[in-house]
Amino acid sequence: MTDQHNVTPATDWWRDAVIYQVYPRSFADGNGDGMGDLAGIRSRLPYLRDLGVDAVWLSPFYASPQADGGYDVADYRAIDPMFGTLADAEAVIADAHDLGLRIIVDIVPNHCSDQHEWFRRAVAEGPGSVARERFHFRKGRGDNGELPPNDWESIFGGPAWTRLPDGEWYLHLFAPEQPDFNWEHPAVQDEFRSILRFWLDLGVDGFRVDVAHGLVKAAGLPDTGHGEQLKLLGHHVLPFFDQDGVHDVYRSWRTVLDEYEGDRIAVAEAWTPTAERTALYLRPDELHQAFNFHYLNTGWDAPDLRAVIDESLDAMRPVGAPATWVLSNHDVVRHRTRLGGSLDRARAAALLMLALPGSAYIYQGEELGLPEVTDLPDDVRQDPSFFRANGQDGLRDGCRVPLPWSGELPPYGFGDTGTWLPQPADWARLTVQAQTGDPDSTLELYRTALDLRRRHPGLGAGNTVEWLDAPDGVLAFRRPGGLVCTVNTTQAAVTLPEPPGRVLLSSRHLSAPSPLSTSSPLSTSSPLSTSRHQLNTAGDCVVAADTTVWWEE
Ligand code: GLC
Repeated sequence: MTDQHNVTPATDWWRDAVIYQVYPRSFADGNGDGMGDLAGIRSRLPYLRDLGVDAVWLSPFYASPQADGGYDVADYRAIDPMFGTLADAEAVIADAHDLGLRIIVDIVPNHCSDQHEWFRRAVAEGPGSVARERFHFRKGRGDNGELPPNDWESIFGGPAWTRLPDGEWYLHLFAPEQPDFNWEHPAVQDEFRSILRFWLDLGVDGFRVDVAHGLVKAAGLPDTGHGEQLKLLGHHVLPFFDQDGVHDVYRSWRTVLDEYEGDRIAVAEAWTPTAERTALYLRPDELHQAFNFHYLNTGWDAPDLRAVIDESLDAMRPVGAPATWVLSNHDVVRHRTRLGGSLDRARAAALLMLALPGSAYIYQGEELGLPEVTDLPDDVRQDPSFFRANGQDGLRDGCRVPLPWSGELPPYGFGDTGTWLPQPADWARLTVQAQTGDPDSTLELYRTALDLRRRHPGLGAGNTVEWLDAPDGVLAFRRPGGLVCTVNTTQAAVTLPEPPGRVLLSSRHLSAPSPLSTSSPLSTSSPLSTSRHQLNTAGDCVVAADTTVWWEE
């Protein structure tokens, strides 16, 4: 087991942590094969330390045929050779700890790869075998069993069942190469507790739990109602998601996590109908955090944002869990593009997120202001849902394009040779190298924001925000320690009756005096002292469109 080294021993480190998601294929390539890997990640850990994040979540690097970018795991205790070796993983953990960074790894318990030893055995041993009980095998419907056992559809499109030559069908909520485990089976439960221990023994600080809401299926695998979702408890329920039985799994996982020193955590990828349902995963004897997809799904609209912030905080308070905030990840359109395409807005959204109480997740490349790549040719796409009709949008490759680190041309320092997905020709100005030291750059905005968040712990603290009066389309709230965050979501400059204090940071830089302004522009020498707000003749304060300002009262 690696020591925690420079990682601060403080308990509850995760309550206000900023956690950076690394998608290993696309972060950095250490061996020049065009595919990101652990050696690449290791070499860039100092970058993440300098960025100022607290922890790094690594998407899967396990042995996998890569039918779904590694979310189809063939061996949960081995590293795919494409990414390196177990020794490389240990080195990443040790180096991260030396740098004061924590490491969270992805665990994929809902399904494995069809190349996993258990599934291969289940296929080989045939109907009725004990090996099949670890998965969901069923006979089909119809006179000759030619129809799937129920009407469930795969998230990636098409039926959630595939028939084997021996006539039986198996369940896969995702691709056919990802058979679902049967979580009623004690061997499955034991195996995953053992996998948790394997990685905890190696020193990881926690887990991101893939499809945390999917493990337990409704008894009897009932139809969803031929497309009409059942309505229960006032919200839409599917018989394969968010079943109450799933909480037994997390109670048992919590006892494992608590056996270990150092505040090890688990964060749920749980897509649920309401924030209240999400909070159930975060009761004190279950998991620590859950991604706030309700927030991610909210548009750039002040009343909607205020409502989702309140609902999230209200839902988490009774269970004592921190709220979390996330704008982008490897499954959704990058927020710069999703929120309308403007970099100003993406930067404003980031500063809003980082001023909210709780923990925030940053997806690799958002700190560079990367847009979604929307023009990937079909023949380079790898997202399995692209190849299956009517599933998820099938466009997840556009947020997975390898990062630009340096230089003028692809692969922009990602590695020595090409990249597994092509990078745009116009990313030279978005590289880490090009943005470093430029006070107007998005990278420096994130660095400054994260530095301020460390120096003003009030920014991430607590479980409430104090809303202040603000003009239409503007959010204004106070955080502990006399900090105020103002967000102008409108397309026009707004005038605040009085400046809420001294500017700490502004998401938008003033390049020319505002027409309303009679005062000279603020200094542009440092992002700390720049802002796009001005005092006008009446002494009012003007905040530009799509701008977030942090103030110190
Ligand atoms: C999660 C992952 C996604 C993957 C799916 C199946 O939603 O984030 O990338 O395709 O689970 O494992």
